[in-house]
Amino acid sequence: RQNGREPDLAPHYLHRPAADQQVRLSVIVPTRDEAENIPALLSRLGPALAPLHAEIIVVDDSEDDTPAVLARHAADAPVAVRLLHRPPSARTGGLSGAVVLGARHARGEWILVMDADLQHPPESAGMLAGIALRHDVDVVVGTRYAGEGSNEGLGGAAREATSSWATRLAKSLFPRRLNTITDPMSGLFAFRRTAVDLDRVNPIGFKVLLELLIRHPGARVAEVAYEMAPRHAGHSKASVREGLTFLRHLWRLRSQRLVGQMREGPAATRDRLRELGRMIAFGLVGLSGLVVNTAALWFFYEPANLHHLLGAALATQLSTAWNFVLVDALIYRRNRQGALAGRAGRFFLLNNLLLLLRLPMLQALVWAGVGILTANALTLVALFLVRFLVNDRVIYAW
Ligand code: GDD
Ligand code: MN
Repeated sequence: RQNGREPDLAPHYLHRPAADQQVRLSVIVPTRDEAENIPALLSRLGPALAPLHAEIIVVDDSEDDTPAVLARHAADAPVAVRLLHRPPSARTGGLSGAVVLGARHARGEWILVMDADLQHPPESAGMLAGIALRHDVDVVVGTRYAGEGSNEGLGGAAREATSSWATRLAKSLFPRRLNTITDPMSGLFAFRRTAVDLDRVNPIGFKVLLELLIRHPGARVAEVAYEMAPRHAGHSKASVREGLTFLRHLWRLRSQRLVGQMREGPAATRDRLRELGRMIAFGLVGLSGLVVNTAALWFFYEPANLHHLLGAALATQLSTAWNFVLVDALIYRRNRQGALAGRAGRFFLLNNLLLLLRLPMLQALVWAGVGILTANALTLVALFLVRFLVNDRVIYAW
């Protein structure tokens, strides 16, 4: 099943102004029973798009008179208005399918996707599109979770909490791709037509952007904050069933990700090689830290005559400081997030949590007759991979 591939389903013009030659932006508005919102949408979207060489494409799955209301008001818009009304038999993919189908017919080099219920203020949408057209990026995400953005219009604490946890869930499943994206579930976003392969995007449910981002790991993404407004009229089509579809969608994206990575070819290979490079560098730093740790343990144990577990704990503080300085300055210089104290704090926290694992290991080895310095080195080597992964994925995540 390939969403939006019905060949003879094409939008027709409800209104086409004379100066409609070089369209740069196609605004796609999916609608399902939004008749009451259409007049306000058009009257606010018109001025917002007027300076942008835009067209509006409404992809409609309504049972109400959304198409008729749209036809009545289209002539007032300063830009072309096209309508594609899908008959019930062709409503594949719901909201997502509608968006992908609309994108196939877009004339603009940029495509902006927005809701019809005015939760995405048309003025913000226009601003976002203006920014997209002026910058050398592939995707521009309207975010509620950064800068001046806000999610208050979503309607109620329960919806807000669901949305924020759904975002967290998606980000934890795709940490690498979504790390720097604050609102991957946004319904307001724009993308460059040539940067996206629509045959690769086959979403179900509501989260078109999420699918687009994960299917195009190389796409360059920027974000623009906006304040989500309350729904103008009518009611949301979100439901428990949509929530389950979302989980199914996540599952599908997650299990197909490997295939996608292989198809992605050079970019994914490059990412793997870079990761390997960081791991080797981390290993070299770790080796120097191992020397520091061993020397310190020897000092605490022999001349200072401390208990070997206390000695190991103290030695770990010294080698942790040594490792932190090198790792922070050399390997992850470009991935630093937040203040130095915060990074150092997380780094020490991790190594001390691991120390709690290492001490029993150390004691067991000592009881088994292994020399104290050798046993200590073994515990450090054993946890190397854990330390690398936590550093690479969490403390200095991309
Ligand atoms: N063509 C079509 N077909 N349009 C649909 C369908 C469908 O089956 N279902 C919903 N739409 C349209 C609505 O008419 C509206 O214009 C837009 O898609 C969003 O639908 P809402 O029902 O208003 O969704 P929401 O406000 O709960 O969700 C919005 O916010 C989410 C983030 O919290 C959407 O923007 C989501 O995409 C977004 O993830
Ligand atoms: Mn809505």
